[in-house]
Amino acid sequence: MDYRWKDEYKLSIDTIDEQHKSLFEAIEGLEKLINSEEDQANPIDASLSFLVRYTDYHFNAEEKLLERKGFPDLARHRQLHKDLKDNVLHFLKEQEEGTLDIGNFLVFLQYWLVKHILVEDKKFADFLNKKKE
Ligand SMILES: [Fe+2]
Repeated sequence: MDYRWKDEYKLSIDTIDEQHKSLFEAIEGLEKLINSEEDQANPIDASLSFLVRYTDYHFNAEEKLLERKGFPDLARHRQLHKDLKDNVLHFLKEQEEGTLDIGNFLVFLQYWLVKHILVEDKKFADFLNKKKE
């Protein structure tokens, strides 16, 4: 599984692209941690909680931007973010119970993110970039 950010994910909206890059880096970093040999329970917990908080921060930033720019399909986009957050809560509950497979979680998140960027974020990017012209 390749967790690195790729140029094809670029939306040409600098702040959002930077945040997306940071998300991929956080996923990649956590993936490296879980695959390393040493006992790393604490760094894994910290890294997972950073990833979850950063996702939240990014969604809020994105929604605020779309609100400011008057993106017409914001309600739906917000709902998609909320659905993902609900899914993440479910994973975090598993983490608390000690049953979470973090590798599975990362694969899920990575797939979701790539699809979301290429399909859904692309829609607002087209809208915003058109406005800029
Ligand atoms: Fe989004």
